[in-house]
Amino acid sequence: MSSEALKCQCCCEEENDQQKYDRIAEIIDKYKKREGSLIQVLHLSQNIYGYLPLELQKFIADRMDKPLSEVSGVITFYSFFATQPRGKHTIRVCMGTACYVRGGKKLVDRLEDILGVPVGSTTEDKKYTFEVARCIGACGLAPAMMIDDVVFKQVNPDKLESILAKY
Ligand code: FES
Repeated sequence: MSSEALKCQCCCEEENDQQKYDRIAEIIDKYKKREGSLIQVLHLSQNIYGYLPLELQKFIADRMDKPLSEVSGVITFYSFFATQPRGKHTIRVCMGTACYVRGGKKLVDRLEDILGVPVGSTTEDKKYTFEVARCIGACGLAPAMMIDDVVFKQVNPDKLESILAKY
């Protein structure tokens, strides 16, 4: 059994930063000789650490013998990599054309008031990361938004608080 498999994955004991870095180091040592493994290492590191802050990027770059610019460049290129801590839930308000003309901006404004943070940020309690999207495939029932994987259609700004109350 690999040492990765032996690690406790339950919620009874939060790993500290050093333990997370140790696990990431093990992963790097395992993958670094494999061609094109940087994306996989970044994915696994993000799963362990939650996001990829600059300090961790430097650690990964050093241990993989790669320039920091290469590591940061890959992280910037792919939207699934995050450099800031993310909230437990992700809210995405659609600002595609159909949603924009049917009130998407009002949803953004109201959510900024309710959450107390500007779009593109995470609430202080780390409950929500608040973003906009280009189109989420519900144009016929605009304005639309998503919370995690759930799509909300024809959203009325006055209903936002009751939608969020379910979370
Ligand atoms: S433009 Fe909003 S769902 Fe398509």
